[in-house]
This record gives sequence, C-alpha cells and structure tokens, in this order.
Amino acid sequence: MDPLNYWAIAERDIEIQNPITDRKLRLLDDYCDVADGLSVLDIGCGKAWLMRQWAERHAIEGVGIDVNARFLEVARRKAPARGRLTFHNSSAKRFPVAMESYDIVLCLGASFAIGDVPAALEWMVAATKPGGRVVIGDLVLKHPPVVSKGDILPPDTIGMMGIVERHGAEVSATISASEADFERYASHHRHATLTWARANPQHPDHDEVLAKSRTDWLYYQRTIRPMLGWTILVGRKG
Ligand SMILES: C[S@@+](CC[C@H](N)C(=O)[O-])C[C@H]1O[C@@H](n2cnc3c(N)ncnc32)[C@H](O)[C@@H]1O
Repeated sequence: MDPLNYWAIAERDIEIQNPITDRKLRLLDDYCDVADGLSVLDIGCGKAWLMRQWAERHAIEGVGIDVNARFLEVARRKAPARGRLTFHNSSAKRFPVAMESYDIVLCLGASFAIGDVPAALEWMVAATKPGGRVVIGDLVLKHPPVVSKGDILPPDTIGMMGIVERHGAEVSATISASEADFERYASHHRHATLTWARANPQHPDHDEVLAKSRTDWLYYQRTIRPMLGWTILVGRKG
C-alpha cells in the first residue's frame, strides 16, 4: 500500500492535519504578527488550513510543499480572498529554497520530511529572514522517563526550546494540544479508516489499511496518551 493513500483515507474529512484545534491555531496570527506583504513557506503543508486562513485575511505570499497530491487538491480548491498561494507537489528536501528568503517558515507535523527536529530547525532557520519566525509543531515528551526502555523518544518542551534556541531563534510562544485534542485527532483517523474499510471490502489495500489503523490506534492508546504530547513552538530569528 502506498502510505500516501493511507493518509488520504485517514485524513479525508479533516483540514487541520495535526492535533491542535482551530481556535488554538488562530493564536499564531498574533504570535507571528501576520500582516500584508509577508512571505510564508509551509513545509509538509497538507491541505494548508493555517496558511489559507491567513491568506483570507492578509495579502501574504505563501508557498506550500507536500508530497501528497490529494491534499494539495484541497489546498488549491478555493482561491483565498487576499493572499496569493502556490503549492508544489514535491518532497521538501528537493524543493529549492534560497537562504533567508521567507518571513515565516512553518512545519507542522512534518519535521521528518527534512530529517529529525534539529535538522528541520536548521533548514527552517536558514530559510528565514533575520527577524522572521520559525514555527515548528511536533510530538514532545510529557515527562522525562524515570527508566529508559530504549525507545527513541522525542525531547520534552524544554528540550525542544533548547533546540530552537541553539539554532539561532528565540522561543516567543508555545501552543500545546490537550489530551482531549490529541484523542480527537487519533480517534478521527481510527473512525475514518474503519468506515472506509467497511465501505470498500474488496479494495486491494483493505487489509493493510485495517492493519495500519490498528497499529496506530494502539500506539496512540499505549504510548502517546500516557507519555507524549504535541506542541507548537514559535521562534523569532535574531
Ligand atoms: C501530519 S501532516 C501535517 C499537514 C499540515 N502541516 C497540517 O498541520 O495540517 C504531515 C504532512 O507532511 C507531508 N509529507 C510527508 N513527507 C513529506 C516530504 N518528504 N516532503 C513534503 N511533505 C511531506 C504529508 O503528505 C502530510 O501532508
């Protein structure tokens, strides 16, 4: 099964493809001082809900990059009222980005498209103009483990702040998903994939979709719910 097909099924009914709610994402308007004339780069933009909201209200120039053409179809469906958005169906690493060329560089739930969180931040900060904003959202550890089980775990929020600051941006705001927000996001995937499987029993991907859906659901219940959260950090490049 092509993983892009899986995610198109699991996220077919949602436009915000991360655990943060629309209300919390709107805080980024202020935290990023979004205004007419700013340039925005969105790595792993998916359906680009946030950038589309900004472009409804502000004359921004936005660029979105994503490997999944089905998500970009949704992102392109309606021209925004004020801004101009262009979308590229490309892997992030293949997309040429000039140094210090964007006012705001976003990467919500897609650091793996560049590498790990430190690699993504290095890339993002390099692409940001001095005084601009980097906005990264990813899994964070809720509490440092007392005994390491050998799992590869993400940093906690303090660790994430250290990574942002080591890459030359000062963290000016954080926004976190609540446990209920993350539960809603994970339940949406589970519900959408089970519904699809019931409606498509003969589809060649049927069994693999169900198997991945179950694995991800159990990972959420066993590991994410007790140990992990999801936080956006806003950094201002010096
Ligand atoms: C968790 S979703 C987040 C989407 C969007 N940023 C949001 O928060 O609503 C991750 C996105 O990264 C995209 N992606 C995965 N690998 C990628 C790559 N190598 N280059 C660009 N985008 C990639 C996926 O297609 C997906 O749209």
